[in-house]
Amino acid sequence: DAVELGQYRHYMQKEIFEQPQALGNTLEMIAGGNTISPQVFGAHAGDVLGATRRVLIIACGTSFHAGLVARYWLESIAGIPCAVEIASEYRYRVSVADPETLVVVISQSGETADTLAALKHAKQLGMDKTLAICNVPESAIVRETALRFITRAGPEIGVASTKAFTTQLAALALLTLALAKINDRLTADDENTYLTALRHLPVAVTKVLELEPEIEQWAQRFASKQHALFLGRGRHWPIAMEGALKLKEISYIHAESYAAGELKHGPLALVDRDMPVIAVAPADELLEKLKSNLQEVRARGGELYVFADAGSEIPESDGVHILHMPEHYGMLSPVLHVIPLQLLSYHAALVKGTDVDKPRNLAKSVTVE
Ligand code: G6P
Repeated sequence: DAVELGQYRHYMQKEIFEQPQALGNTLEMIAGGNTISPQVFGAHAGDVLGATRRVLIIACGTSFHAGLVARYWLESIAGIPCAVEIASEYRYRVSVADPETLVVVISQSGETADTLAALKHAKQLGMDKTLAICNVPESAIVRETALRFITRAGPEIGVASTKAFTTQLAALALLTLALAKINDRLTADDENTYLTALRHLPVAVTKVLELEPEIEQWAQRFASKQHALFLGRGRHWPIAMEGALKLKEISYIHAESYAAGELKHGPLALVDRDMPVIAVAPADELLEKLKSNLQEVRARGGELYVFADAGSEIPESDGVHILHMPEHYGMLSPVLHVIPLQLLSYHAALVKGTDVDKPRNLAKSVTVE
């Protein structure tokens, strides 16, 4: 396997660094053209998406977090109501079926038992508009849906999902734009701007990966901690969730994530000098709100590690560490902001000496309930 790993120590590290290529491959169909076509989701996608009034996203684990980001995109850009559910919850709860809802299942493997069962459950309820976003073309989930989008991340071996997640986000961005266009919510100018940003993603991700040495230093500092708190707002709240999940999975540090506005409703009680607080702080419309949340943390002695954008003016000071992302990326910013969190958990796990690619008690694909 050493050959396959090439210059890398672990599959997870290799897969983190493969993200520019994985995104480029997944977005290949928009490389040349200036429009987004529903056909990328299947031959009949135009009809299905045209009749879609709502979206229900179902997934597990990291794929669930991709769905949570998409909810912000779908409602704000396509104007389509969106709900996101954990597959193991959806399959067993009594819910209201709606034939005008597009059911979107997201799965790296296409074999996760709960996601497959939730999809079958939705179909039994009469919801036949179904779309799989999946990394494995011949998987069980892909065989069950009317529409499909195959991410082209390539095989993902590390148990902690990385390149599958960012390519799922790319697919969900395309879905958002396709639905926005069908609903006359996308001007030609906007479409062009979004497509340009999508095409530039591999380059943008490459620049973010260059932050690794600084992130490694941060990882050294908090690998000895027992707990960590991740904060984010808006479309970056799911990125905080994903950062906490990654840290838990491979470094075994207890990590929690919160929407930063909820801090005062509970987790602030946990903050002291032994609790590092990681904040996802892009220069978006919520930055000022987030800054006041961060002051609340500082006032309680919490040590802050802030992933800011180039333009976010958050001064470095005692107990406030800032890492600046190379550029601000608007709607697609979650795709970039997850990358330093992947690197942070990877390096924290290295310091702790855990089995990065095969963390204890976890499986790559959970094919039993
Ligand atoms: C397992 C993996 C996670 C993954 C989840 C969902 O828990 O360890 O990395 O996110 O399953 O898997 P799927 O293949 O459905 O995306």
